[in-house]
Amino acid sequence: MQKDDAKLELPNKEAVELAIKHGTLGQPVIDIQQLGHQGYFTFDPGFMSTASCKSAITFIDGDNGILLHRGYTIADLVQNSSYLELCYLLMNGELPDQTQSDNFSSEIRQHTLVHEQLRNFYSGFPRSSHPMAILCGVVGGLSAFYHDSLNIDNPEHRHIAAMRLIAKMPTIAAMAYKYSIGQPFVYPQNNMSYAENFLHMLFSVPAEPEERPDPILVNAMDRILILHADHEQNASTSTVRTAGSSAANPFACIAAGIAALWGPAHGGANEAVLNMLEEIGSENNIPKYIARAKDKSDPFRLMGFGHRVYKNFDPRAKLMQETCYEVLNHLDLLDDPLFKLAMKLEKIALQDEYFVEKKLYPNVDFYSGIVLRALKIPKSMYTAVFATSRTAGWVANWLEMLGQPPLRITRPRQLYTGHTQRPFVPIDKRT
Ligand code: ACO
Repeated sequence: MQKDDAKLELPNKEAVELAIKHGTLGQPVIDIQQLGHQGYFTFDPGFMSTASCKSAITFIDGDNGILLHRGYTIADLVQNSSYLELCYLLMNGELPDQTQSDNFSSEIRQHTLVHEQLRNFYSGFPRSSHPMAILCGVVGGLSAFYHDSLNIDNPEHRHIAAMRLIAKMPTIAAMAYKYSIGQPFVYPQNNMSYAENFLHMLFSVPAEPEERPDPILVNAMDRILILHADHEQNASTSTVRTAGSSAANPFACIAAGIAALWGPAHGGANEAVLNMLEEIGSENNIPKYIARAKDKSDPFRLMGFGHRVYKNFDPRAKLMQETCYEVLNHLDLLDDPLFKLAMKLEKIALQDEYFVEKKLYPNVDFYSGIVLRALKIPKSMYTAVFATSRTAGWVANWLEMLGQPPLRITRPRQLYTGHTQRPFVPIDKRT
């Protein structure tokens, strides 16, 4: 890293020299760690200007629509790789050779089953539970089953916990779906790819003759998994790091990430896109909803549009759009009214002055919601599919953080705006 300095003038103090640090790509950062000793904190709600950690996993250039995982473009990875290969890359920093790839896949296969006792967790939930509620509980509950891998200071424990999480997420998510519709759980099939197995566990029914999932739909699922696998220090990944910074166990950390992902401003967006399209209902209603999205007094936002980092285009959205057309064409759904409505909405929003001026483009979830619907995955499962995929990024970031000792607990400060100290008033003297 190169180093130079910035100078900060503070009232009634000598100027403070702050090191400017340069990564290999991206904006330089001003190292403010010593500011606290000068009697000042910085104020940055939402971390609009704050780098919270050093990381070598993912790079995003939001202005130019670039997303790199370990230096490889997302387009390259989507076209040439598979989800499991990407998991290996995110966790280990390099693409695997054939032997490493085979070993990694076979190790994942060894962990796809969940403990039979874990099945009982499901029956405690109402059938109507949101799958994300089940995921938060069940993934956190994994901590109770794997005492052999909870020592976070042991690299082998960290590795096995990471592998278990990646391997079991599709099984746990598919079980949440099966439970919600009252069908028996379907066990994983280890002769299938990760994406194929996921579709198998979601849609196979023991009473029906076994049919392997359609390869085009398997490819679409693999692409959804690749495109959502990691995205730098987003809200859920930062949450996993924050939970991990207290030395919490990996299953608890990932459960925290699942909770953060659930919100509609983050992973809940793909479900929210479909809810919005259903609410709009017909192309005639689009102008009314566009007007609502622009009205500051109306909380309605066009879901699937805008991104905190991508202010020109979301490179994942382009790749997801390709898959969207491929799947809809394959399933003969190009005339589907909801899809036509979505395309009309996209066209109108892309030409609307408000959206153009604020650089609000369709994000990956605008298209992934439509693809997931075509795959017949119910809306409530969309965020669970996202969580399954993002587990790769969460564990990679958790591993990276623990591999960079010393582990320092995340403890932000605040700008206090409450009362100054005041005397307690007994209840009979309060007015
Ligand atoms: N519809 C209408 N207006 C919008 C939208 C939208 N989808 N998104 C942003 N704006 C407006 C805001 O009102 C704001 O206007 P102002 O400058 O007049 O106040 C301006 O555009 C900037 O928006 P911010 O909310 O400040 O941008 P921020 O970076 O904080 O938010 C976010 C990004 C949360 C993604 C936002 O665009 C949004 O809510 N989009 C819809 C939800 C969504 O699709 N989320 C998925 C994100 S991708 C992912 O998680 C994989």
